[in-house]
Amino acid sequence: MIKRLMAIGLLLVPALAFGSGGGALQDSQIKENDIASMQRGAALFMNYCSGCHSLGLQRYSRMAQDLELTQEQVTQNLMFTDAKFGEPMHAAMTPAEGEKWFGKAPPDLSLVARNKPGGPDWTYTFLKSFYADASRPSGWNNTLLVGASMPHVLWELQGVQHPLRDAAGHVERLELAAPGTQSAAEYDRTVRDITNFLNYVGEPSAGKRRALGVWVILFLVGFSVLAWLLKTEYWRDVH
Ligand code: HEC
Repeated sequence: MIKRLMAIGLLLVPALAFGSGGGALQDSQIKENDIASMQRGAALFMNYCSGCHSLGLQRYSRMAQDLELTQEQVTQNLMFTDAKFGEPMHAAMTPAEGEKWFGKAPPDLSLVARNKPGGPDWTYTFLKSFYADASRPSGWNNTLLVGASMPHVLWELQGVQHPLRDAAGHVERLELAAPGTQSAAEYDRTVRDITNFLNYVGEPSAGKRRALGVWVILFLVGFSVLAWLLKTEYWRDVH
């Protein structure tokens, strides 16, 4: 009996190891009120992602307002197309070009932090899960989105990861084979900043709504006290 239990346990170990290394999501630890992080994320997005991906539901002007940037800062540092300040953020590339070059048009990322399982953690984990794979047209693969047609655009920062495979050929975990310009902790922050920015884009009013929520609760508490005082005042005459 004990032997059988141990055998089952041994069978489970690789399954668990694969779960944590392969498909499981990592906690992005984003802070929704961290404006500096979102500003860095916006700059990273414009530099590394906006060539292929649009944010069609977000206007440059709205981003400037929410992330406390001036129109000048945005137009000079964050706009690489000939778009106008009040326009939505379209990609430099057209969907048709994307399809021709990558076999699949890069999707709009306006809502990606909301509509993926695990919310923003999905994007965070995705950007950390690229590995070199010579069998793919781009030379890259991804453990979260197997067969992804997106190349690892941040590889110079992260370095090159190689897969460690189990006997059946499944990727068990990734190992940094060649370091990039950033340490692991720095790369985590880079990816967290991009994720924080995309999470903001997915719900631009979240910060304001929460700030307003505090005042609504305070009003309700204050109003309850007034109502209670009024009630005691009325009932004094009744008795
Ligand atoms: C060279 C073009 C290119 C660049 C640059 C690029 N991507 Fe992609 N991306 C793609 C393509 C193509 C896909 C579709 C992958 C697939 O489904 O196989 C994709 C998919 C994604 C997805 C999954 C979206 C979904 O709905 O499945 C996310 C998230 C993403 N990219 C984020 C980023 C971020 C963040 C950056 C910048 C750091 C970036 N991408 C830069 C081409 C690009």
